[in-house]
Amino acid sequence: MDIINEVKIFVEAECKKPSSKYGYEPFPFHLVPMVNYAKTLARELKADEEIVVLAAWLHDIGSIIHGRDNHHVTGATIAGEKLKKLGYPNEKIEQVKKCILNHRGSGKSKRNTIEEQIIADADTLSNFDNIPGIFKAAFIYENKDQGQAKDAVREKLERKWQGLHFESSKKLIKERYKAVQLLFNNHQA
Ligand SMILES: [Fe+2]
Repeated sequence: MDIINEVKIFVEAECKKPSSKYGYEPFPFHLVPMVNYAKTLARELKADEEIVVLAAWLHDIGSIIHGRDNHHVTGATIAGEKLKKLGYPNEKIEQVKKCILNHRGSGKSKRNTIEEQIIADADTLSNFDNIPGIFKAAFIYENKDQGQAKDAVREKLERKWQGLHFESSKKLIKERYKAVQLLFNNHQA
């Protein structure tokens, strides 16, 4: 059995359900690019690729099924149960769960393993692939107007860039980061 493919099918099916909190969009616009970044970083940094890719597919499953609140905790539980059903070894399940538990926020220090750090970075990198998605969150979920949304998006991307753990991560999106600065910084009238 190809565990990665099983997990991908599970996550896509959850995104397709009418009850999925953010609809199908997170799958093509967030998870697919994130998994690609995670895979690239795992290879470059010689991390455990299987753990990283499984955690990348599953890291937002809590948000997809139950909504954003506490989704690192709900997601780790759902991921643990799914992987157990698929017969995945316990100690590896714990590694995947740790990646999911620690993928949120800026607290770098709590991320002890390279796999956890890669998941946090890949999550950030995928934001630079999906700027419409950040705007959607600002307009639809946070009710911001254009000026507020523009500031929020610029600040978010700046904060995310600063929080990256690896030079390899920065290298992957440096040109996009520069483009963000060009497009989002207010020019003098
Ligand atoms: Fe994410």
